[in-house]
Amino acid sequence: MSSKKVLATNPTGKLGILTPGMGAVATTFMAGVMAVNRGLEQPIGSLSQMGRIRLGKRTKKNKPLINEVVPLQNLKNVVFGGWDIFADNMYEAAVHADVLDINLLKKLKAPLSKIQPMKAVFDKQYVKKLHGTHVKKAKTKMALAEAVMRDIRKFKKDNKCDRLVMVWCGSTEIYIEESKVHQTIEAFETGLRRNSKDIPPSMIYAYAAIKMGIPYANGAPNLSCDIPALVELAKTTGTPIAGKDFKTGQTLMKTILAPGFKARALGIEGWFSTNILGNRDGEVLDDPDNFKTKEVSKLGVLEQILEPDLYPELYKDFYHKVRINYYPPRGDDKEGWDNIDIRGWLNYPMQIKVDFLCKDSILAAPIVLDLAIFLDLAKRAGMSGIQEWLSFYLKSPQAPKGRYPQHDIFKQLAKLENTVRHIAGEELINHLGLDYEE
Ligand SMILES: NC(=O)c1ccc[n+]([C@@H]2O[C@H](COP(=O)([O-])OP(=O)(O)OC[C@H]3O[C@@H](n4cnc5c(N)ncnc54)[C@H](O)[C@@H]3O)[C@@H](O)[C@H]2O)c1
Repeated sequence: MSSKKVLATNPTGKLGILTPGMGAVATTFMAGVMAVNRGLEQPIGSLSQMGRIRLGKRTKKNKPLINEVVPLQNLKNVVFGGWDIFADNMYEAAVHADVLDINLLKKLKAPLSKIQPMKAVFDKQYVKKLHGTHVKKAKTKMALAEAVMRDIRKFKKDNKCDRLVMVWCGSTEIYIEESKVHQTIEAFETGLRRNSKDIPPSMIYAYAAIKMGIPYANGAPNLSCDIPALVELAKTTGTPIAGKDFKTGQTLMKTILAPGFKARALGIEGWFSTNILGNRDGEVLDDPDNFKTKEVSKLGVLEQILEPDLYPELYKDFYHKVRINYYPPRGDDKEGWDNIDIRGWLNYPMQIKVDFLCKDSILAAPIVLDLAIFLDLAKRAGMSGIQEWLSFYLKSPQAPKGRYPQHDIFKQLAKLENTVRHIAGEELINHLGLDYEE
C-alpha cells in the first residue's frame, strides 16, 4: 500500500453484495468469484482485481496493481445474497442460465446452493414477459420498501457483514420518463405511500438501499436511482450511487471504436447495429416497451462521442440504428453485427464490419464485481451521490443535472484512474508533462 495519505478507511470484516435479480448475470458473477477464491479460474475482465495503474512520472516505471494502491475489499471476505421472483437457489439458477460449464458449477454446488433468493418486489406491469411466484405482498409501495429494508438488516445480521453494497441485476423494466413524483424526496415518499404507477420495483429497492446508506448501482437501463429524489437522498445519507446499464457487448465496441474514428477526423455516415440473443434478458427485451428502455440507453452513446453540432462536416445527419432480436437457439451467446459507413480523405466512402461473438454474462460479471468493490471503496472514502468515475462500466452513465454523460471509454478510464490516484493520495496525471520530465 502507498505511504501517502489514503482517503479511504481500511475494509474490515465481511462485505455483503446484494443483487435484486439473480439470473444469468448475477449467478455468473457469484459463481465466478467463488471459482476465483478457490483458485480454479482468473478474474479476467475485472480492473479491480487485475488492473494496474501508473503512479508518478513515466521514468519511474511504477505501475502497481490498483488493489495495491487503494484498500479494496478482499474477495475472500465477500458474501452474496439477493432477491428474485423465482425461488431457485443459485446453483439451480446458474444451471438454468446455462452460461458456465456444468463441470465448473458442480465444483461450486455446495456454496451456490446455500444462496437462496429472498422474495422479490415485483409487478408484472413493468416486466410483461415474466410471471413471478416468489413475490412479496403488501398494501403500499412504502410497505414493500420497508420489507426490503427488513430483509437487508436480517441478511447483514445472519451473515455477520460489516458493510453491504447493492447492484441491480434484475430484468429491464418498461420505459418510464422522469415525472413529478421523482423530483423531490418528499414527492417520492408520498408516491410510495400512494402506490404511484411511476415508481417501479427497481426504484423501491434503490430507495431501500440508499435510505440505509448502502451503495447502489443499477445494471439495467431503467431509471432506478437516476431521478432527482434518489440523488438527493444519496447525498443526505452519504451514499455513493452509479448507473445505468452495464456496458458489455456492442456498446462497449462502439465506445472503443467511435472515439478512435473521431480522433482521426474520419466521417461517419451511418452505424447499423443488430444482434441476436436467446437468454431470458433477450426474451424480456422482445417486448416493445422493455426494448424501448434499452434502445434509449444504447442510442445516446454515439451522439455524445461524435458531437455532430461541433463537427457538421463529419457527422451531421449520421444514421444510427440499433436492433435486438430474440433468438432462443443462441442462449447467452450473443452475436452482434455492426456495419459502419465511414468517410475518408476527399469524402471517399469506406465500410467497417464488426462481428462480435460474445457471451453476454461473461462480459457483465466482472462489471458487477468492480462496481460493488469500487462503490464500497467510495463509501469508505466518504464519497456520496453520483460516482461519475464509474461511468467506465455503464452504457448510459448517470450524470449530475446540467452535465452531459461522458461515453468515450478512454476519457472514462482516465477519470477512473485519477479518482483512484486521488483516493490513494497520489498525484493526478494529466499526460501534459514535457517529454524529458514525464
Ligand atoms: N448480460 C449483459 O451483457 C447485460 C448488459 C447490460 C445490462 N444487462 C442487464 O442486466 C440485467 C440482468 O441480465 P440477465 O442476463 O442476468 O437477465 P436474466 O433474465 O437472466 O436475470 C434477471 C433476473 O431478474 C429477475 N427479476 C426481474 N424482476 C425482478 C424484481 N423486480 N425483483 C427481483 N428479481 C427480478 C428475473 O426473474 C431474472 O431471474 C437485465 O436488466 C439486463 O438488461 C445485462
